[in-house]
Amino acid sequence: MLTLLGDWKRTNYCGEINKDHINKNVVLMGWVHKRRDHGGVIFLDLRDRTGLVQVVFSPENKDNFALAGQIRNEYVIAVKGVVRERPEGTINPKIKTGFVEINGEQLKILNDSQVPPFILEDKTNVGEEIRLKYRYLDLRRQRMQNNIIIRDKLTYSIREFLHNNGFIDVETPFLAKSTPEGARDYLVPSRVNPGKFYALPQSPQIFKQLLMISGFDKYYQIVRCFRDEDLRADRQPEFTQLDMEMSFIDREDLLQLLEKMFKEVLKKVFNIDVDLPFPRITYEEAIDKYGTDAPDVRFGLYLKTLDDIVKDCNYNTFKRAVEEGGTVRGINLEGANFSRKDIDNINNLVLSMGGSGIAYIRITNKGISSPLSKYLGDNIIEKIVDIFGGKEGDIIFIMAGEKGLVNLALSKIRIDFAKRKSLIKDNEYAFIWVLDFPLFEYNKDEGRYEAMHHPFTSPLDEDLEYFDKDPSKIRAKAYDLVMNGVEIGGGSIRIHRSDIQNKMFETLGLSDEDIKRKFGFFIDALKYGTPPHGGIAFGLDRITAILTHSDSIRDVIAFPKTQKAVCLMTSAPSEVDEKQLKELNIKLDL
Ligand code: AMO
Repeated sequence: MLTLLGDWKRTNYCGEINKDHINKNVVLMGWVHKRRDHGGVIFLDLRDRTGLVQVVFSPENKDNFALAGQIRNEYVIAVKGVVRERPEGTINPKIKTGFVEINGEQLKILNDSQVPPFILEDKTNVGEEIRLKYRYLDLRRQRMQNNIIIRDKLTYSIREFLHNNGFIDVETPFLAKSTPEGARDYLVPSRVNPGKFYALPQSPQIFKQLLMISGFDKYYQIVRCFRDEDLRADRQPEFTQLDMEMSFIDREDLLQLLEKMFKEVLKKVFNIDVDLPFPRITYEEAIDKYGTDAPDVRFGLYLKTLDDIVKDCNYNTFKRAVEEGGTVRGINLEGANFSRKDIDNINNLVLSMGGSGIAYIRITNKGISSPLSKYLGDNIIEKIVDIFGGKEGDIIFIMAGEKGLVNLALSKIRIDFAKRKSLIKDNEYAFIWVLDFPLFEYNKDEGRYEAMHHPFTSPLDEDLEYFDKDPSKIRAKAYDLVMNGVEIGGGSIRIHRSDIQNKMFETLGLSDEDIKRKFGFFIDALKYGTPPHGGIAFGLDRITAILTHSDSIRDVIAFPKTQKAVCLMTSAPSEVDEKQLKELNIKLDL
């Protein structure tokens, strides 16, 4: 039954066939999406990466009709035939090729197929585990093909823009030394250097800075990065960055160029118009208004701080939070009309996040009601309602506690509510730059400062004096780009002087020996005429996921890993032979 391709040459892709091809002879090749027998005629939906076209075999054509009868879903076939208009009543306007069909004249079955473990349709309710196990089949589904094809268009268009704007694509090593992004490294043992390891790069950060020192001036790379961190929908252990660096520029030059890139690429690939300039917000304002440094600015519902109003009140939980350096903040869920159960759900969410609970003030047609009334008194309650502009149907949630937790919980409540109330339009894209991040974060558990972005980020010039007084006050020349509430990129103007770089390392608590061992080569390089420079890296998977309306970046990566960093198709990671371990001088201690 199976035949070789022989001298048959494909003339067209399936999805391209339209009325212009009527009466033309075509040779098509692809997969059988579906076979239907109707009134003695066999209909095949033939599929390739461009779409489907209907092929018809009628009984007059005896041999081929018999062969067509043997075909099952996902068989690989080649068809010679003539394009014709579909008879009235059989037109399918839902598909691109729905006005025409192929009158099949000759048929070759190039390969058969087992019955696939799930139906290869866009609407499939099969679990993601099965999809990942048979990823090569999952990728046949049109939605997945589109995602990968859109990703290609996106990267092509980005490359075009950057090439035309003088950027040079330079590859940097994967077998590298540990980089400073702050996640755990993936390590690769060196056979020829017993006891030594490479680290897979968390980003090309140091190399791209070295390329600036080498004088390349404008660098970019679409590059895989590796981070051993806790995974979630928008995090993979290996992911792709659009990584960039430029010399002799300031923040403004970089932000403007990037805005231009997004405008041009989104117009070309998606026909989306974005307004320039992108709005900007400082880190401080973002936390104040949205409780997060990745705000979704497509809707309002701003958070408000109530510390001043409640600091002397009779409610101990609130009072203590303020006294202990925490905060009391709230959000008004406008027009929520929440039931008791909705309120309980919010409270449970807060408990599950480690909070001690959340209070509320409800405004109904019977007036203001709140379990807080007996502690705060009507006066304070009314003041709070006033601050939030509360009206009938609203409910104001108020949470006290450690600042980070309060902001995290309230920002989640904000987003969940916007989704529930459909406050976000499907095709609305909102960019915002978040600027002036703190240079350091204080790690309470370890009692030391950590770099919020990475240790090569330049402080704001006017904050340099705080290195000796209060490093927590230093702001950084760092910026993130946020799209629809997702951090799609982050970068900074770098430190280009070795004296400031050393100060930075000192504040991070690195000993001279540590600095030398980890970054010695880099500190040396900074001493040989380093130009002022800065850059950014974008999460290409995240950008593609937003633009293809995918819930997870796994849907825009051909072969992703699970939340447990496992490839279900190949079973990586897996055990290795004893011999391999021996060669690497590795003994397992499990
Ligand atoms: P950063 O660590 O902020 O910066 O990373 C840049 C962007 O990469 C994306 N990203 C990820 N995407 C998927 N899975 C992950 N595990 C993951 N981690 C990060 C995010 C993020 O905004 N070297 C610096 C850049 C610079 O300073 O130029 C860096 O890597 O979208």
